[in-house]
Amino acid sequence: MTLWHGRLGGGTADVVMDYSTSLHYDRQLAHDDLAGSRAHVRGLARGGLLTADEVIGLLAALDQVEAELETGAFQFAPDDEDIHTSVERRVTEIAGDVGAKLHTGRSRNDQIATDLRLYAKRELRLVASEIIALQEVLLTRAKEAGDTYLPGYTHLQRAQPVLLAHHLLAHGWALSRDVDRLVATVERLDVSPLGAGALAGSSLPLDPDGVADDLGFAGRFENSLDAVSDRDFVAEALFDLALLGVHLSRIGEEMVIWSTEEFGFAVLDDAFATGSSMLPQKKNPDVAELARGKTGRLIGNLTGLLVTLKGLPLSYNRDLQEDKEPLFDSVHQTHLALAALSGLLATVSFDAGRMQEAANGSAVAAVDLAEWLVEQGMPFRQAHSVVGGLVHDSIERHVPLAELVEAHPALGSEAVVLLEPGVAVTRRTTPGSAGPLAVTVQMERFVHRVEFDRNRVATGR
Ligand code: ARG
Repeated sequence: MTLWHGRLGGGTADVVMDYSTSLHYDRQLAHDDLAGSRAHVRGLARGGLLTADEVIGLLAALDQVEAELETGAFQFAPDDEDIHTSVERRVTEIAGDVGAKLHTGRSRNDQIATDLRLYAKRELRLVASEIIALQEVLLTRAKEAGDTYLPGYTHLQRAQPVLLAHHLLAHGWALSRDVDRLVATVERLDVSPLGAGALAGSSLPLDPDGVADDLGFAGRFENSLDAVSDRDFVAEALFDLALLGVHLSRIGEEMVIWSTEEFGFAVLDDAFATGSSMLPQKKNPDVAELARGKTGRLIGNLTGLLVTLKGLPLSYNRDLQEDKEPLFDSVHQTHLALAALSGLLATVSFDAGRMQEAANGSAVAAVDLAEWLVEQGMPFRQAHSVVGGLVHDSIERHVPLAELVEAHPALGSEAVVLLEPGVAVTRRTTPGSAGPLAVTVQMERFVHRVEFDRNRVATGR
């Protein structure tokens, strides 16, 4: 029996049920739906719409539904359109006539908006805590890296030497902005829509403020039309996850590059690599590639939902049912990506020898020579041209750069020291820079930032 059998005769065509059912995915919301229903029942009681006995009967039935769902004993019926229908049907089977009072003053429109906000609050906080776990891995690896340095790249061309710790923390800081965004999104979505009804509220004495409080929301909706039609929070969540995905993708891309024989900066742990079905020698960075590849669908989930939303008039439209699969998928994929990438980064070995060799080999200290000349009073543009000329000569004439620097009247033996292995990176001393002293300070600040984020994610503020 459908929820609307009183109005529409003759039954719903099978194909309509097949097309419109959302049970196979929104059953993930069962726990949140039950929480919403319990709060609604208590709200109805406060409004005098249920007796104490009725409340006891309904809450007991909701508990039983929860137990049945947990043990797998719950039987879904062919007519169950979505999880709300299933729960209400079963409550009525268990509690009898009083079950028919459960939906008093409520619509699936405010119900589903409530469920999804409860789900998003919980899952986005969980994602934030998983990001923090990944940041802690990066921090540990950065601490272990000590004075190891590698070439920093622009345009994927060797540019200047940087500490490995600095490089790893760069990803850490990007992730702290992801945590920040998720916390802000949760704060904005922390609004209860329950009591908005189908779209316009109710003539019955509901208690939306009390219900919001009961469910742990910061407050209730201000406008019932907005409450049932707003999916900003889903779009924001999908954006936050897509951008996080972009960050993870970039880490993945670097791991792919670093683990090539050509680079040889990183060797993946066997547990976080895969082999080839044909080529016996292969060790492939599939985790890193999936972190990169799956970001495509995270972005797709966001753009898909935005397109769904863009033409909708107020208030609820069935199109809005299309909000759930992208959200569930992005959340699920993000949990997996964070766990896999954390494991990969915790276990990868960095080859300090290869990194440093790459950073010593070329003219990556060129700007240090130019800055040394600036310290001697030469205008930077002129210094740049002097050193650029020497690099050019060194390549054209196959003469080591150090020899040319040594022989140059403005440079000489004092300047040539800068080209010695490991010297240039120590010259980076400005705040936030890639040298050892600045990185020590940065690391302390990062530790505080992660600590601060861990606390606010744990306390939900
Ligand atoms: N399954 C629906 C959804 O996810 C529930 C709301 C249905 N409301 C309605 N008026 N048909 O959006």
